Amino acid sequence: MSYIPENDRYDNKTSYRRCGRSGIRLPEISLGLWHNFGGVDVVENGRAMLRYAFDQGITHFDLANNYGPPPGSDEENFGAIFKKDFLAYREELIISTKAGYLMWPGPYGEWGSRKNLLSSLDQSLKRMRLEYVDIFYSHRPDPETPLEETMMALDRAVRSGKALYAGISNYPAELTKKASAILKQLGTPCLIHQPKYSMFERWVERGLLDVVEEEGIGVIAFSPLAQGLLTDRYLNGIPEDSRAAKSWGFLKKEQVAPAIAKVRQLNEIAKEREQSLAQMAIAWLLKDHRVTSVLIGASSVAQLKNNLVSQNNLVFSEEELTRIEVILKA
Ligand SMILES: NC(=O)c1ccc[n+]([C@@H]2O[C@H](COP(=O)([O-])OP(=O)(O)OC[C@H]3O[C@@H](n4cnc5c(N)ncnc54)[C@H](OP(=O)(O)O)[C@@H]3O)[C@@H](O)[C@H]2O)c1
Repeated sequence: MSYIPENDRYDNKTSYRRCGRSGIRLPEISLGLWHNFGGVDVVENGRAMLRYAFDQGITHFDLANNYGPPPGSDEENFGAIFKKDFLAYREELIISTKAGYLMWPGPYGEWGSRKNLLSSLDQSLKRMRLEYVDIFYSHRPDPETPLEETMMALDRAVRSGKALYAGISNYPAELTKKASAILKQLGTPCLIHQPKYSMFERWVERGLLDVVEEEGIGVIAFSPLAQGLLTDRYLNGIPEDSRAAKSWGFLKKEQVAPAIAKVRQLNEIAKEREQSLAQMAIAWLLKDHRVTSVLIGASSVAQLKNNLVSQNNLVFSEEELTRIEVILKA
């Protein structure tokens, strides 16, 4: 069935935040396609999520060259959906992809060389049937390639028109500072940093958030629900259709049990706030103005719907914050 987006999609359904000191505003919640959009998944389910997201004013979809499985199949599926549903709305969307993790055999199929990044971007554009992406990321720092080479490749991607902005992901604070300085010098300032950040993973609080603020770089927090742990998904065991139960999922069964005591306690606070745990976990990230967007995953429209409601209550009392802190630090 042909898709006609909701006319009221920008009528206060979602809020937008400025991405660092750039011209771009991103929705407070963005949709990531790492899981649930690959060759092993039901394409129509992914399609329904993308449609629902866009209807709610979610303008940002995040991909990477290697998402699947198999690697590349996410971009292929997204490309097919994009052609059917979103072609007429290209200018309304911020679509990102990344290069840096293993994608093809031989010495050039991963990391941060100019050869890897620019070849991978060409492949991604072909798979997604796009003329350009909005953000092209170096997916991870490469300890063996000069930082200048990786940043020059991002700059080249932008200058060639194949990407509109440059981003970095998983770069530690000091390297972010250096990368930012190089990109500024090249005339392609870094738009955004994509780090893992959730109640359970807080490395960014030890320096990175200060650096991005100083540098005028936005932040999009990935795996904000700790891949589903920070939800009610695992409160009564491991459901068969959950990420932890799937052989290809990146959340392993063994990771569930050690987290569950904290999850239960956090869930009680969420209930008092009249939020689901997922909503509270997202709101907890958005309380920091340096976080531009929270990059969620979802396996159903129902989950997505639940998560988008987070925006209705982003305020925490000092008492709630202290109680959360006590649970997280125990
Ligand atoms: N830059 C990087 O290195 C990097 C790495 C990883 C991810 N990312 C990006 O970040 C995005 C999000 O990562 P993620 O998928 O790990 O995010 P996440 O939001 O932490 O976890 C998503 C999972 O949580 C569960 N979930 C979501 N909403 C729920 C709800 N309301 N109730 C119950 N369960 C719920 C679902 O699990 P089930 O599937 O079990 O239902 C869903 O698949 C990715 O798609 C990707 O774009 C980037």
